[in-house]
This record gives sequence, C-alpha cells and structure tokens, in this order.
Amino acid sequence: MHGLDEFLQSCAEMDAPFAEWVSSTDQLILSDHPESMEIFRTMLSGDLKPYLKPGFNAIAAVNSPMQCMMKEVCAQCLCRHVDSVTGEPSRYVFSCFNQHQPLFELDFKNLLARQGQNSVQEKLSNAWLDYLIEGRQTEPAMQDAVSAWAHEVTHEPVDQDNHPAP
Ligand code: FES
Repeated sequence: MHGLDEFLQSCAEMDAPFAEWVSSTDQLILSDHPESMEIFRTMLSGDLKPYLKPGFNAIAAVNSPMQCMMKEVCAQCLCRHVDSVTGEPSRYVFSCFNQHQPLFELDFKNLLARQGQNSVQEKLSNAWLDYLIEGRQTEPAMQDAVSAWAHEVTHEPVDQDNHPAP
C-alpha cells in the first residue's frame, strides 16, 4: 500500500505516460491485499472515474481462506458482497467457485476479517516449519554434542553402583 495512494492520485492529476492505462483500459483485474484493492476501488469510483472508458470493468481476484475447494461444500471461502449504491450486504459468493469477483461489489472489511480467521493455524504452521528447518540445521551439532557427552560419560570413573562419580 505504500505509495499506492500517491500513484493513483498522480494518475488522476497528471498527463503522464504512466497514467495512460486509466483512459485506455477496458478491463482491470486486481490481485492484492484487500486494503490495497479497496484503495484502488475508491479512486476508480472517485477521482479516476471521469477518465475511465465507457463500459470499464474491474475484477478482484479474491483470496478467501479455503478448506475443501469443492465449490459450495464447507463454506470456508464465502465472500460477502455489498450493493455498490447502498453499501448494504447483497449476496454471498463461494470464492472457490469463482475467485474473480466484481471489484465494486466486494466487502473488503469482511474479506479481511475472514482472512484473519486462519491466523492461529498459520502461526502454528510457521512455528512447525521453523522447528523443522532449525532442527535440520542443528542436527549435526546436536549429534556432536551427544557424542561428546557420551564420550565423557563412558570415560568417567564410576562408583560401585555403576553411577557416574559426582
Ligand atoms: S472452500 Fe469449501 S466451499 Fe469453498
């Protein structure tokens, strides 16, 4: 999102080559973080609107959390849409059935909340991966440490009860 506001504002204000896409695009497909796509939508329906081609269409690639990916079974991927005029919820879409959804109808706050629902699982997965990766990196060192310890133990004098001497 850093710089996105400035970029879009520049597109609206400047007659620069990088802003040419605004007046020459028939269909725009966005795939980004919900907050970035919402910034885009705000500008497209505001300052950039006078420059858009008639019939301009904007689509968002929605990355909702998914579970079954079997189209309308588990409902983990549900994405809420809102009426672009009233802002009221209008319908729910199974994102695994259709990831490309109309930009101007998406409820990005709902999408952001749904993406956050997997955060515990994601943190656990990351912790497990770190554990595995670090475990592999330290494995030879661990083996060396165990060998050294075993050498020390086996070469220490033992008392009559067969315990290492204190
Ligand atoms: S991911 Fe299960 S219904 Fe879409």
